[in-house]
Parts: sequence; structure tokens; C-alpha cells
Amino acid sequence: MTNTHAILGLMLGSGYGTLPEAWRAPGVNPDNYADIEANIRYAQTAERGGFSFLFVPDFPGVRGDVEHTGVPSVMEPITALTAIAQATSRIGLVATGPTTFPEPFNTARQLKALDAIGHGRAGWNAVTTSDPTVAANYGQGVADRSERYQRAHETIQIVQALWGSWEQDAWVKDAATGQYLDPAKLRPVNLQGQYVASRGPLPIPPSEQGQPVVFSAGGPSPHMLELAGRYASGFIAEVLDHRGGACPARDGARGGPGGGARS
Ligand SMILES: Cc1cc2nc3c(=O)[nH]c(=O)nc-3n(C[C@H](O)[C@H](O)[C@H](O)COP(=O)(O)O)c2cc1C
Repeated sequence: MTNTHAILGLMLGSGYGTLPEAWRAPGVNPDNYADIEANIRYAQTAERGGFSFLFVPDFPGVRGDVEHTGVPSVMEPITALTAIAQATSRIGLVATGPTTFPEPFNTARQLKALDAIGHGRAGWNAVTTSDPTVAANYGQGVADRSERYQRAHETIQIVQALWGSWEQDAWVKDAATGQYLDPAKLRPVNLQGQYVASRGPLPIPPSEQGQPVVFSAGGPSPHMLELAGRYASGFIAEVLDHRGGACPARDGARGGPGGGARS
């Protein structure tokens, strides 16, 4: 039987609203971008209203008409959601994080810590960022699509392996016997890909949900559909235009999706 149950998510951005000059609208505090209190209020309202998750997009850079329109994203997703986690109790916390630039160990560590702090409410929106402004902030150029997706497959596999590197009962915490951890229940991941690698384990215990939920967001390229189909439990899709078309791919590169990291 088809399940028609809707799951509502609220996108959180700069704290002003999604219209380009919302920061100067009547009643909007222009300080909201650097003041987490506004997004905390929106998160608490969404939680009271029955929304299932908060979705925080990310653009780690400065672009567009910043002189007038301001910035579209939160200052930093994990930091913002950690503060929001402390002021909410049930709503899911989905942070966007690129697979293109950071080391998978950093991504795994930040998301798993958010999951532990939020008592099992974190999600990771894994995006194959291809913006030259962001690439330049990481001291890099934009790799072609086949390389970005190969790195994405390897990164997601390593991140998920690191998240699973503690068995559920590894954290013993038995003051009477003096045993804090059971080292036999910590598993190094020893994954080596073409672009990224990690030994593990991660120094963070499983959360109440085990590990964060993987989301993805992107255009309808075969590469993205394969990536999302393989790993994502949720997908943030783009809106089609009036002709039913989607935005064209932003680079002309071709090449098969990656096969991922291997032991
Ligand atoms: C609905 C939607 C939301 C996206 N959100 C983000 C985001 O928050 N941060 C980001 O770096 N990229 C974001 N992207 C970009 C995608 O991750 C990806 O880089 C882009 O779709 C190009 O993919 P392609 O190489 O398969 O064409 C988003 C794309 C779409 C369609």
C-alpha cells in the first residue's frame, strides 16, 4: 500500500526570510544573521507546529549582490544547529555539508557530535558542491563532475563507516570495575579511496538513533540520482520550471559515477 504520510521540513537560512532584501523588511531585525536567537525561535515554532525536521543549506562563501541582498545561509550549519539542539527536544536537525572539499573525518566527527548532543536528531545533507567561490575558499579549483562524484562516493562511505566504528555497547562506563570503554568494540575503518581516506575509529559513541540520517540535494544528473539512490534516505529536489524542465547541469563534464572507497 502506498504511504501518503507527509513529512514537513523547515528550511532555516540567514534569519531574515528567503526574499532577497528580507533583512530590511518592517519588523525584521537586521542583526538576525549573527544572532542565533531568531533561528531558535523559528525552530521552536516549527517543533510546536509538528514539523519533522529543520534543513540548513550551506554556502561557505560570499557571492552575489551582498551590498544589498545580504547572505542566504546561516553563518555555519553545525554551530547553528548545536545551539538549536539545546533549545529544542524533538525536531530533526539536518545540516548541509559538502562532499567536495572537507576531509571525511571532519564531516563524520562534526555530524556525529551533533547527533550525540541532539540525542539522535541529526541528519547530513551531502552535497557535491561545484561553486568556484567555495572551491577558492578551500584553496582549490572546481574538479570535473566525475572526480567530484567519485570523491562524494568515497566520502559518504568513509563517513558512514566512521559513524559505525563504535558498537552499540562499546561505552561501558562502569565506575565499579573501572572500565570506561571496551576497546574490542571500537573498529578502525581503514578505508583508502582515490581521493580520501581514514583509519578511524571516531572518538564519539553511537547516539540514540545510532548514526545521522543521510540526505542529498542536487540537480537531476545521472550522477546525482545514483548517489542519492545509493545512500540518501531523504532528497531535497529542485523546483521544475513552467515547461517541466530542470536547471541545466553547471559543467559539461561526463564520466561514470564513482565506485567508492575500499578497504
Ligand atoms: C535543491 C538544491 C539544493 C542544493 N543545496 C545546496 C547547498 O545547500 N549547498 C551546496 O553547496 N550545494 C547545494 N546544491 C548543489 C548540489 O549539491 C550540486 O552541486 C549541484 O546540483 C550540481 O550537481 P551536478 O554536478 O550533478 O550538476 C543544491 C542543489 C539543489 C538542486
